[in-house]
Amino acid sequence: MDNIIVAIDGPAGSGKSTIAKLIAKKFNFTYIDTGAMYRMITFYLLENNIDFDDLKEIEKALKNINLDMQGDKFYLNDIDVSTKIREKRINENVSKVASIKIVRDNLQRKISNNKNVILDGRDIGTVVFPNAKVKIFLVATAEERARRRYNEFLEKKVEITYDEVLKSLKERDYIDSTRKESPLKKADDAIELDTTNLTIEDVINFISKEIEKNIN
Ligand code: DC
Repeated sequence: MDNIIVAIDGPAGSGKSTIAKLIAKKFNFTYIDTGAMYRMITFYLLENNIDFDDLKEIEKALKNINLDMQGDKFYLNDIDVSTKIREKRINENVSKVASIKIVRDNLQRKISNNKNVILDGRDIGTVVFPNAKVKIFLVATAEERARRRYNEFLEKKVEITYDEVLKSLKERDYIDSTRKESPLKKADDAIELDTTNLTIEDVINFISKEIEKNIN
């Protein structure tokens, strides 16, 4: 049997990573959080004061960056940056970094498909794995997505207001969906699921059925 690739795309806060992690556990698939890869590159560029317009320096930096993921942990050149890549300054800059063509080309070469995998991102079903067996496009209203992100920040005791979260989310939506290089876009053959009023369990059940159709 061929490897199964499940692509979960959608805007920030649509539930992609929560859902992808749970599905990976249920089916024993490998989960690849592609957003975290862009976050790690963003972290490296900011730490090293590299200008996002300086393509020569970015190209050099990409050669010095080694990314590794183990479960919930993310390592940048062997240093655990799992918490740091979720900080506000990364949220505010990651969409800019993800719109740089050489960054996208470089990361796409690093994504493997030699096992059963579930990946979440913005362009998995359209560009990275257009042949994925199961493609899901998760959406939810901006207000609901902001509420989810805000609750995550509250849990982590990050000082931020709901309005700030909503504004930053809308900015990211705009950059992610209007950029030239593989913008956030539903693949023609992806199934769109609006999670605004769904529970996590509802979404898991829906996607599980789609995966089971391909396993049996
Ligand atoms: O899913 P996330 O919030 O961790 O993603 C961080 C950013 O990375 C997001 O603003 C857009 C970008 N991204 C992308 O361009 N392509 C992907 N496949 C995944 C993420």
